[in-house]
Amino acid sequence: MKLMDQIWNMARANKKKIVLAEGEEERTLKACKKIIGNGIANIVLVGNENTIREKASKLGVNLDGIEIADPQTSNKLQTYVNEFYELRKKKGITLEKADKIVRDPIYFATMMVKLGDADGLVSGAVHTTGDLLRPGLQIVKTAPGVPIVSSVFIMGVPNCKYGDNGLLLFADCAVNPCPDENQLASIAVSTAETAKKLCGMDPKVAMLSFSTKGSAKHDLVDKVVNATKIAQKARPDLKIDGELQLDAAIVRDVANLKAPGSDVAGKANVLVFPDIQAGNIGYKLVQRFAKAEAIGPITQGFAKPINDLSRGCSFEDIVNVVAVTAVQAQG
Ligand code: ACO
Repeated sequence: MKLMDQIWNMARANKKKIVLAEGEEERTLKACKKIIGNGIANIVLVGNENTIREKASKLGVNLDGIEIADPQTSNKLQTYVNEFYELRKKKGITLEKADKIVRDPIYFATMMVKLGDADGLVSGAVHTTGDLLRPGLQIVKTAPGVPIVSSVFIMGVPNCKYGDNGLLLFADCAVNPCPDENQLASIAVSTAETAKKLCGMDPKVAMLSFSTKGSAKHDLVDKVVNATKIAQKARPDLKIDGELQLDAAIVRDVANLKAPGSDVAGKANVLVFPDIQAGNIGYKLVQRFAKAEAIGPITQGFAKPINDLSRGCSFEDIVNVVAVTAVQAQG
C-alpha cells in the first residue's frame, strides 16, 4: 500500500478537526470536498461566510458538515484576543494591538488550535512559510521537551534500493536556517519520531557532513560531531550516527570502508542535513533528478500540529497535508 494511502487510513481511524485558515481560497474549497468525502478529517474554514458560500456554490462544493469561522463576527473573538494578549503582553502587545492581530485569519486559526477549538492547522496556499509559522511559534509553541520546531520531507524515490526501498526522510530542509549543535540534535530526534509515527519505520538516523568519522577537520564538522553526541546521549534508544558523508550513510560498500561497525552507516533511512541550505538543495536535487515524490515540508515539534502548503500546491496536495496533520494530531 502506498504511504499516502496508509496515512489516509490512519487519519480516518481517529478523526480530528483541522482548521484551514485560507477558507476563501478555491483549491482549499475543492480540497474540502475530497477530505469530507473520504472521511479524512472534520474541517473548519476561516474566512467571510458569504464569500466562502458563494465560492463553494460556484465550485459545486457542498459545505454540509463544515464549520465556518469568521474572525470579524465570531463569538470566540474576544476570548482569543484576551488569551493572545496574556500570551504576548511581555512582548509589548497591548489589548488594542491584540484585537487587530487576532482578526488576521492565520492568527485566529492558530488561537483556535491553542484553545482546543481545532486539533491542527493547515495554511500556506496563499501565505508564505513565515506568515504561517511565526504565529504558531509565538502562540502554540513547542511540545514539552522539544527545544525547536523543525521540518521534514518524506521522499519516495522510484526504483531505488537506498533507505527503506527508496523511502527516506530528509530534515531540516525548510525551517531552521542555521541550527546550532543542540538544535541539530533536536532535529535528529524529532525526525526519528516522525519516521516512526507517520511511516512506521525503524529509524536509522545519519548526521550528514562532508566528513566521515574524522576524515576532515573543520568547525562545521565539529558541529555535526557534537550534535550526534548530544542526540545519542538524549536518546540512547534510537539509532543515530555521524558524522557521515551521504555515500557512507546510504551505500553499504562505502559504509564498510569508511564507517565499519556503525548501526546506521550504509542503511540510513533518515538523513539530517547540517543546515537549511544543504537540506533544501538536497531534497530538490533528489526530487528533480531522481523524479522522487517529496511529501512536505511537514512541520514537527509543535505542541499541536501546524503545517504549511506550497503556494504552488494543488488541491490534492492540500488533502494530503490535512491527512498528515490529522495523524500528527492523534499524538
Ligand atoms: N522553534 C521554536 N521556536 C522558534 C523557532 C523554532 N525553529 N524559530 C523561532 N522561534 C521562536 C522565537 O524564539 C520567537 O519566540 P518569542 O517571540 O516568543 O520570543 C518566535 O518564534 C518568533 O521568532 P522570530 O525570530 O521573530 O521569527 P523568525 O523571524 O526567525 O521566523 C521562521 C521564524 C519563520 C521559522 C524563520 O526562521 C524562517 O523564515 N525560516 C525559513 C523559512 C523558509 O523560508 N523556508 C524555505 C522555504 S520552504 C520550501 O522550500 C519548501
